[in-house]
Amino acid sequence: LVLDPYSLVNDDASLISRRCWSDASVYEAEKQRIFGRSWLFLGHESQIRKPGDFVQAYMCETPVILARSEDGQVHASINSCTHRGLPVCRASHGNTRRFVCPYHNWSYSVSGDLVAIPQEKQVAQCPDKSALGLKRVPRLESWRGLIFGSFNDSIEPLEDYLGDMRFYLDAFLLRFPAGIEFVGSPQRWVIDANWKLPVENQLGDVNHGPFLHAAIIPAEANQEIVDYGYSVVTQPGHGATFRLLPEDAPVESVGWGFESIPGQTGGAELQEYLREVHAQASDRVGPIRARMKGLTYGIYPNLSFLWSNAAFKVSHPRGPGKVEYWSWSVVPADAPAHLKKILRANHTSFFGPGGILEQEDSESWMQQLKGANIGFADDRPFYYGLGLGEEKPHADLPGLVSSTANEFYARAFFQRWRDDLAAEVRA
Ligand code: FES
Ligand code: FE
Repeated sequence: LVLDPYSLVNDDASLISRRCWSDASVYEAEKQRIFGRSWLFLGHESQIRKPGDFVQAYMCETPVILARSEDGQVHASINSCTHRGLPVCRASHGNTRRFVCPYHNWSYSVSGDLVAIPQEKQVAQCPDKSALGLKRVPRLESWRGLIFGSFNDSIEPLEDYLGDMRFYLDAFLLRFPAGIEFVGSPQRWVIDANWKLPVENQLGDVNHGPFLHAAIIPAEANQEIVDYGYSVVTQPGHGATFRLLPEDAPVESVGWGFESIPGQTGGAELQEYLREVHAQASDRVGPIRARMKGLTYGIYPNLSFLWSNAAFKVSHPRGPGKVEYWSWSVVPADAPAHLKKILRANHTSFFGPGGILEQEDSESWMQQLKGANIGFADDRPFYYGLGLGEEKPHADLPGLVSSTANEFYARAFFQRWRDDLAAEVRA
């Protein structure tokens, strides 16, 4: 990296250079020093329940096959043939016994072993197939069904990496008696934005809601955020936002998404189902987390979650000025099938590529990237100083806590990002 990361992000991260989003050398450094070292989200166990099930995933720009073998083990292999590098799997998901490369038909098992080379009988010396399997993702771990991979052999265990974020993740993941399920394929689309823009927005930018989404989000919902909203950072780069409803608030007001928004479907039956789930939430997640509503999470570097019309999202980098955004619909695993369908439809109509909220956010990220490319403005960094130093510990909530107007979640993200870029690259 030619640029000094400490010249891009100042000490308290209140001033951030536009080059962080626009500079090609910054992007190259990010690939190695951030995506090469972190835990990266690959998928959920519910997507690959049966032997032979597979889904495609990405670790930054590297295509990965996540699959379950006969013995029930989960495998993550790089989707690139050992012979000449073609992708051996072209389907986004499915069930198979073999991945067969289209070019010369080398075939691989779902665990990534090279099984057959059609040309082997015609050559005197067949190569050692056991050494020519697909390259495995060096580290693979799952927690509560969420599967992560890492290129970094010496990374800390996933549970330690997630740390106190597990407290907030569990507010959602443990709320449903049978856990959660990812339904269908993710929505996927490419926009002219830098990967960090959606990440930062989902990590804690509650401030834009009443303005950017003024036509859609009702005033009462925005008032609730002002009255009961919290923003939390558990470790730099990991954070959550939520409303903590008062103890006497009726359980049904926890809801699912923005129930009062026109266009949300589901009606009385869905609301009744959710009321029942929330009425028992305290037994499963305890009294504090039962009152959490409208959670958003960010897990460093590029996984986000939105409770409202529940979406797990990954922001896959595709260059400094492009991002491939994936959004999975997440539903309670034991919900009746027709309600799952409704929840998925709500997810897509709000947070799919044509989603009524997603379009407004995407437009802002594309415009911010344009702003980051204004050459003459290199000496005018973006201002990230709102609420500087106002975050504090809280008796019931792990991490540092503040109002949702405080931009400390973004400062903490960029401090970690800066320190990661500054650290020596492994040999
Ligand atoms: Fe895959 Fe030749 S490139 S078999
Ligand atoms: Fe938004």
